[in-house]
Amino acid sequence: MIISEIIAHKRDGGRHSQKEIAFLIGGFVSGDVLESEMAAWLMAAYIRGLDESETVWLTRAMVGSGSVIDLRELPGPVVDKHSTGGVGDKTTLIAGPLAAAAGVKIPKLSGKALGHTGGTLDKLAAIPGLRTSLSQDKFLAQLNKVGIAVAAQTSNMVPADKKIYALRDRTATVESIPLITSSILSKKAAGGAKNILIDVKVGTGAFMPTLERAEELARSLQSVGRSLELNVNCLITDMNQPLGRSVGNALEIKEVIDALAGNGPADLMEVSVRLAAEMILMAGLTTDLAVAREKIEAVLNSGQGQAVLEQLIESQGGDANIIRDPKRLPAAAHMRELRAERDGFVTFKNCRAIGLAAAVLSGHADCPPRLDMGAGLVVKSRHGDKVIIGQVLVDVFFDDETRLLEAETLIKQAIVITREQPDQWPLIYDNSLTTCSIKEC
Ligand code: URA
Repeated sequence: MIISEIIAHKRDGGRHSQKEIAFLIGGFVSGDVLESEMAAWLMAAYIRGLDESETVWLTRAMVGSGSVIDLRELPGPVVDKHSTGGVGDKTTLIAGPLAAAAGVKIPKLSGKALGHTGGTLDKLAAIPGLRTSLSQDKFLAQLNKVGIAVAAQTSNMVPADKKIYALRDRTATVESIPLITSSILSKKAAGGAKNILIDVKVGTGAFMPTLERAEELARSLQSVGRSLELNVNCLITDMNQPLGRSVGNALEIKEVIDALAGNGPADLMEVSVRLAAEMILMAGLTTDLAVAREKIEAVLNSGQGQAVLEQLIESQGGDANIIRDPKRLPAAAHMRELRAERDGFVTFKNCRAIGLAAAVLSGHADCPPRLDMGAGLVVKSRHGDKVIIGQVLVDVFFDDETRLLEAETLIKQAIVITREQPDQWPLIYDNSLTTCSIKEC
């Protein structure tokens, strides 16, 4: 097969055979297909799309590029959770420990930041000493002991996704339903869980800007999941403004600690508790959402969720004292307050720009990326809040002053003050895509 012919086939709107896709992915992992060739194919696939069979073949080829974890020996119900990506989205580190404390085993393979969205691996890197490269034995032992392990793919797990994910980040080919589907499900399939809850984010800070697109992505995840014998449930949640208040790695870890102490912002608590409740429904621990919520609220209020986070940090070599003393987390050298320039109502126009501002402040947007772990921002008001002139809207945390102007410009694009109170968005879109237990599916 000739790689330029495969690229041209997709560029001209053709449909790939399974062999072509296997050749492309195998060649990219072995190095026979160059980055430039893969970048061209990604753009062709982004523009022309892939149908469901092509997406299934792509996902299978990506899973087959490396090893798969065997969780059959793991006692207890196993449910994995993933987010399609958002701004300030730290729910994995809240819902995960809560569901684990309620009896679910959560093998979580996470990713780094992608585009304007944050990555759980980057957030965890803010915890001094914490390791996310875990051997398979260590991953399984921690799942048995703590109930949750959050790790990076090892070098022999889904290497195709690792390479393609990084390339998509640099080639403006992230927002594609088949590419997102294959990226997420290849990691999930390799992680070994058969039950997967996906938080599909919708809004200006998500890869899917409209409810229609988010539903399309959810349907794709479910049907491709079925072909791979994965039971996928989706919850569509809002991403038109940051979830919680903090955006930035160490700042978000601090907010996670507050949330597991029961003191998180209402929106973050609501989404995290709901996701954890959906996870215990999928695990078959109850069939009633109200009962599931009660169980999760009980482990939250008793501090068991926080205890699981502490065990997770310790088990992965991190400094668990951050839970009692968050000042041990990295902190930015400087802080600047951005204030309202008039009276009115806070209106989030473009949440993506908030994510980009955080990426600029931390250095993730640099080439090559570097990470100032303490940098980021804390939004002080929610969409629709009434503010007066001079009121602080955002605290901006930074180490490098040269980044401030660009970040401030982005934040001003994202948040404007309007005369009229803006319409609100639902936080959670209750829909038919949730939810069924292991036994039913
Ligand atoms: N999360 C992933 O793992 N992959 C994507 O493509 C988008 C979000």
